Amino acid sequence: MADPSGGIGIFDSGVGGLTVYRQITARLPQESVVYLGDTARVPYGTKSPETVVRYARACARLLIARDIKLLVVACNTASAFAMQALQEELAIPVVGVVEPGARAAAAATRSGVVGVIGTAGTVSSGAYPRALAAIAPPVRVVQRACPLFVPLAEEGWTAGKVPEAVATRYLEGMLDEGIDTLVLGCTHYPLLKPVIAQVAGPAVQLVDSAEETAVAVARVIAERALGNPGSPATTRFLVSDTPESFRRSGQAFLDRELDPVEWVDF
Ligand code: DGL
Repeated sequence: MADPSGGIGIFDSGVGGLTVYRQITARLPQESVVYLGDTARVPYGTKSPETVVRYARACARLLIARDIKLLVVACNTASAFAMQALQEELAIPVVGVVEPGARAAAAATRSGVVGVIGTAGTVSSGAYPRALAAIAPPVRVVQRACPLFVPLAEEGWTAGKVPEAVATRYLEGMLDEGIDTLVLGCTHYPLLKPVIAQVAGPAVQLVDSAEETAVAVARVIAERALGNPGSPATTRFLVSDTPESFRRSGQAFLDRELDPVEWVDF
């Protein structure tokens, strides 16, 4: 049984899930958070479903040992492949990023043509088209893997000619298909939101899975009466490889220093 005085556990393959962390702590500042970046195994986006499910189970086990009351799978690739396994196996609520993103896209689209961008794994899993078909059956989904966005975001190279050229190359085909809504289906993409918005143009509404996931987390906490009963809110950052690079890239994601960051072996 989940204990309301426990923290919210969030995991991602690395630093990108900090976009989800940021939205959750902005919405629920009274809640403690344990964030795990699986930096030893990143990237997940190029790995097989079996491998991603194995990694996701290991991350969940580690966070549960830290007494979390709710698990957030901040990584789109892990959400795409491992949500069912985690929801079946764990005794605490599990919130992923795919369903909230799909729900927001279904509500936003007028043309019924929704674009989804993500890692190769997320796109090949078909998780977003499946979620959209369950929520809004007539919606047509146009998907595209955008692997170069991940290193650009990590480098902090989020404005100017290079990201613009990359975004144009990735998005032009999707725009030709008539999308009016575009799901940013990867932890890193919210950092490139301004350039993606500029290339996509004003007629295309961007859906940030991170924002929608925070809304879903707040809803689950309220519905299950899991709100923090009054302990001071704390944040712990855990990583499976050396903390330095996480600390460095993390600053770009949060606009502040990340300290302390604990190196865990699992
Ligand atoms: N966190 C991953 C995702 O949202 C992107 C980085 C990776 O490939 O591990 O899909």
